Amino acid sequence: MAVGIGILGGGIVGGSLARRLLDDRSAIAARTGLDLELIQVAVRDQNRARSFPTSYATSNPEAVIDHPDVSLVVELMGGLEPAGSLVRRALELGKPVVTANKELLAARGPELFDVAAAKGVSLLFEAAVGGGIPLIRPLTESLAGEKLSRVLGIVNGTTNYILSAMESEGQSFGEALAAAQKLGFAEADPTADVGGHDAAAKAAILAGLAFGTWVQAESVYREGIDTLESADLEEARQLGYVVKLLATAEQRTGGISVRVHPSLVPVAHPLAAIRGATNAVFIEGPAVGQLLFSGPGAGGEPTATAVLGDVIDAARDLLAGVEVTPRLIIGSGATVDLAEVDTSYYVRMVVADSYGVLAAIASVFGDNGVSIASVRQDGRGEDASLIIVTHSAAERSHRAAFDRLRQLEVVRQVAATIRVLN
Ligand code: HSE
Repeated sequence: MAVGIGILGGGIVGGSLARRLLDDRSAIAARTGLDLELIQVAVRDQNRARSFPTSYATSNPEAVIDHPDVSLVVELMGGLEPAGSLVRRALELGKPVVTANKELLAARGPELFDVAAAKGVSLLFEAAVGGGIPLIRPLTESLAGEKLSRVLGIVNGTTNYILSAMESEGQSFGEALAAAQKLGFAEADPTADVGGHDAAAKAAILAGLAFGTWVQAESVYREGIDTLESADLEEARQLGYVVKLLATAEQRTGGISVRVHPSLVPVAHPLAAIRGATNAVFIEGPAVGQLLFSGPGAGGEPTATAVLGDVIDAARDLLAGVEVTPRLIIGSGATVDLAEVDTSYYVRMVVADSYGVLAAIASVFGDNGVSIASVRQDGRGEDASLIIVTHSAAERSHRAAFDRLRQLEVVRQVAATIRVLN
C-alpha cells in the first residue's frame, strides 16, 4: 500500500525531497518495502521553476494537509507561523509529521509533542539539528543508557564557514557571509545565523535530547560572531587556538547550562578541525568517553536525506498501525545561570605602555579571584596590545574584573573578551 506524502515548502530542502521521492520511489521501495508516493507540495510562488514537476505544486498548505491521499506531512517551510499552526493541524488530524524546523521545535516543542502523543502519531525532526548528520537517534536510542555530561556543537554552517574563510583566506566578514549565502547555507535573514539565534534554537533541542530538560530558545545565553574581529582570530591562532561558535549543553551542579557563544578551541581538540560549512557534535559521557559526529549541517541534499530517513521511519509505524509514543521524554529540569558557571577567557586590551600598568591589571584579576594563565604584549610605543588568557574561574568573577578594567585609566579599551574551551 502506498503512503501518500504531502510537503509544506518547496524551497531548497523541500525541492530536493520532492525530486528524490519521485526519482527514487522504486529504489526506496526495494530497500525498505515502502511505497512512498508524493501527492502535493505547498509552495509560496506557484509560477517559480522547481526541481520537481509543477503539477505537484499548490499554493494552499491546508489543502495539502487535508488531502485524503496525504497520510504523512513533511513541514519544510521554516519559521514559527504559519508552520506551527499547520503542524498542529496535521497532528490533530492524526497524520504523522516530519519537520526540519528548529525554530518551531525550540519555541513550541513540548506543546506539539503533547498533541502528537495524544494522537499516538510520530513527530520526527532529525534534520532540525546538524542537517544530514544522524544525531537524534544516537542521542535518544543508542546513548539512552549513558548519563551524558556535555554536548558541544558546531551547529551553524554559515558561521563556521565565515570563521574558516576569515581565518584561512583572510576574507572579510562581509565577503565570507556573501559566499555562504550564495552557497545556500544561510537562513533567509542571515542575522539568525551570525547573531547565534539559529544555533541557540539547536542548542535548546540538543539540551532536550541529551538531558531531557526542555529549554526555551530565548532563555539560551547567546552571543554571535558579528562582533568578532579578524585580529582576534589571528591572535588566537598564534596562541594555539581556533575560534568557533559553539553551542554547549552541559550538566553542572544544580542543573544544565545551555549557551551559544564564540570560543577559543585548542587546535588539538577534534572540533578545531571542523572547517567550512561542516557541522559537528562532540558528546561526552563518563562511560562512553568522547564521541564526534560530523558532516554537512545544511544544504538541500544532505538535509533531505535526514528528512527522508524520518519519512521512512514514520511511514513504517503508520503502516504497522502502532500507537507511537514520543521518542523524546521532556522533563522540566533546572538550568543554571551562566554567571555561576566556571569559564576561562581570552582578553585583548589596548593599554598604555608604561611602568606599573601590568601590575595594575594583574591586581584587578587577582582581586576578583581570577588567576592569569598567560600574558602577551604586542607592539610598543604609547599604546600596546595586551593579551591575557585566564584560568578557569566563575563567569561572575570574570565579568566583575572586566567591568573594573574598563574603569582603569591605563586601559584604553577592553577590545575583546572571548571564552576559552576547557
Ligand atoms: N542556516 C543554517 C546553517 C542552516 O547555516 O547551518 C541549517 O539550519
